[in-house]
Amino acid sequence: MAEADAQRWDGKHATGRPVEAEPPALLRGREHLLAGGGRALDVACGRGAVAVWLAARGFVVDAVDISPVALEALAALAERHGVADRVRTHRHDLDAGLPAGTSSGYDLVVCQRFRDPARYPALAAAPVPGGLLAITVLSGGDGPFRAAPGELRAAFAALEVIEYREGDGEQALLARRTGAGP
Ligand SMILES: C[S@@+](CC[C@H](N)C(=O)[O-])C[C@H]1O[C@@H](n2cnc3c(N)ncnc32)[C@H](O)[C@@H]1O
Repeated sequence: MAEADAQRWDGKHATGRPVEAEPPALLRGREHLLAGGGRALDVACGRGAVAVWLAARGFVVDAVDISPVALEALAALAERHGVADRVRTHRHDLDAGLPAGTSSGYDLVVCQRFRDPARYPALAAAPVPGGLLAITVLSGGDGPFRAAPGELRAAFAALEVIEYREGDGEQALLARRTGAGP
C-alpha cells in the first residue's frame, strides 16, 4: 500500500467515532460457536472493537492493520478492558500477505469490511480444521473495494458454509474449515 493510503487510513481512524468492544457481526447471536475460545486472528482490525471483544471472551488474539493510529486505539481499548496481555498487534501491510507467524492455527479468523481477493487463499487456510472464518466485504457497484456477485461463496467453496448472505451492499460469509482444508 502506498504511504499516502496508509496516512489516509490514519486520518480516518484519528477522526472516527470512538469504538467499543463488540462481537464480529456474523457471530452475533451465535456466541455459542465461540465457547471453546483459543486463538483468533483479526485481519484489518481497525481500532480493535472485535479483537478486544474476543480477548475479553478469553481468546488470544493477533490483530493486523496498516494504521498505527488504529493500533494505538486498539491498545488503549484493550487496556481499558484489562486484556492487553491477550492481544498482540501487528502493524503490517496486507498487500504483502499475512504477517509472519499468523498464517495458520486459529480457532477463529475474522476479516470484516476489508477486501483483498489475493488474500482469500490465506484466509481459508488460517483456521485449524474445525475452526471458523467470518468475513464481510462491500459488494455491488464498481471499484476495488467492492466484491463481484457471488465472490465470497466461490472463493471459500472448500469451507463448510454456516451462513452466506449477499445484499444491501455487503457480502458476508461464516464458514468452518473441515478436514485438512484447502
Ligand atoms: C473499513 S476498515 C474495517 C476495520 C474493522 N475490520 C471493522 O470492521 O471495523 C478497513 C481497515 O483496513 C485497514 N487496511 C486497509 N488497507 C490495508 C492494508 N493494505 N494492510 C493492512 N490494513 C489495511 C485500514 O486501516 C482499516 O482499519
